[in-house]
Amino acid sequence: MQTPPPHSDALVFFGATGDLAYKMIFPALQALIKRGHLDVPVIGVAKAGWSLDQLRARARASLTEHGGGVDEAAFTKLLSLLQYIDGDYNDNDTFDRLRKALGAAEHPLHYLAIPSSMFAVVAGQLGRSGCAKGARVVIEKPFGRDLASALALNAALLAVFDETAIFRVDHYLGKEPVQNLLYFRFANSFLEPLWNRNFVRSVQITMAENFGVQGRGAMYEETGAIRDVVQNHMLQVVASLAMEAPQSGTPEQIRDARARVLEAIEPIVPANVVLGQFRGYHAEKGVAADSKTETFAALCLHVASWRWAGVPFYIRAGKSLPVTCTEVLVELDPPPLAIFHADHLTRDNANYVRFRLGPDVAIAMGVRSKVPGEGMIGQNVELLAVSKVVGQMGPYERLLGDAMKGDATLFAREDMVEAEWRVVDPIVNHDIPVHEYEPGTWGPAEAEGVIADGTWHDPSPNGEKEPGAPA
Ligand code: BG6
Repeated sequence: MQTPPPHSDALVFFGATGDLAYKMIFPALQALIKRGHLDVPVIGVAKAGWSLDQLRARARASLTEHGGGVDEAAFTKLLSLLQYIDGDYNDNDTFDRLRKALGAAEHPLHYLAIPSSMFAVVAGQLGRSGCAKGARVVIEKPFGRDLASALALNAALLAVFDETAIFRVDHYLGKEPVQNLLYFRFANSFLEPLWNRNFVRSVQITMAENFGVQGRGAMYEETGAIRDVVQNHMLQVVASLAMEAPQSGTPEQIRDARARVLEAIEPIVPANVVLGQFRGYHAEKGVAADSKTETFAALCLHVASWRWAGVPFYIRAGKSLPVTCTEVLVELDPPPLAIFHADHLTRDNANYVRFRLGPDVAIAMGVRSKVPGEGMIGQNVELLAVSKVVGQMGPYERLLGDAMKGDATLFAREDMVEAEWRVVDPIVNHDIPVHEYEPGTWGPAEAEGVIADGTWHDPSPNGEKEPGAPA
């Protein structure tokens, strides 16, 4: 039996005064402490001219606003673990002080919650100062800007860390309902016979957000919807839906199966993409007056595998849409003959499997069932396989805890990230027109044209039923 990897004995997070730490990391730290999963020094690093007391106050504010409130016992514990190093990432002294603060720690975890342009600099400094020895590094997305920069970044990281010590975050992989996609597919037998080009007509994934860029205009200008969520979150959802069964549930076998399907996705053709920008985006702080950054993307891609050849996978993601919801709709082919009223052959009445991935959770199947009465008339009924999930771990708590244990199952590997960039490279470096859309709508009208022979499935706000299903 393999010996388990050593547990991290210190947690360092760069970007300690930043947005991600405020929204995600402090809440995850409190949650880990509450569960008894965190009892090592926690060292924040940033260049803000702050004191430890200021960072502590920031942690309290973060928990109040984003952590479901301050749990006094857990927070007291967090304060006892928390240290702060203020310094420039280009300055050797910052990292020499970090090495000292790490003391006897042999397996620190370094979390890089910083702009991606600084990843290579910080990795190099960790190597130079001796802080990388025996350590792991967690890298936030976006991992590069395109394939070429992702390759360069991988090379810079691999010059300091072994691949097994690099944990690339895609927080969608840490989400309970995304993990359930794999579980539901491979722990049941009934889905497998249908899950291929012979029965699946199309797959749609919509990631809708009913808010704008929330003050992150400057960052968003650098990314846009394709780099922000399609290259990573959406492609990982495609991978979860389309991958072959892994040989077993071990981290590398699951990651192998993911990598294989990501490699089978054909590079997206610009003609299959519609981009949009919500009206008012230019007024956001940090956004250029003539910005062409897309806040919406609708596209069609294909998985060139025996299982999926010819099945369109439609993806739609955007800001300032009518609802906040991520939902998958797998539409099945109609039955071969109309034995009863032919309405069960129409597209609106097709069978489907629906996975609602957030903010609430559902796995549902749309089927036809007879309306009571003399006629053989049907109605749409949803069989709800899973609804509300209670007490689930947030993705950042899950991912930080896993990285500290050395479990990489839910992190992207080098080959996966490179395969993802190969898929979107032709469209991120291409001048695709960006259409304006009204905030609160489903994006520009042109997006309808992405689906050749159907319409987009708009997720409902309450998540309980298909819009067309009977009350
Ligand atoms: C992030 C994106 O990765 O995911 C954000 O940068 C987006 O733009 C967020 O809002 C959505 O995450 P979730 O977990 O709220 O669906």
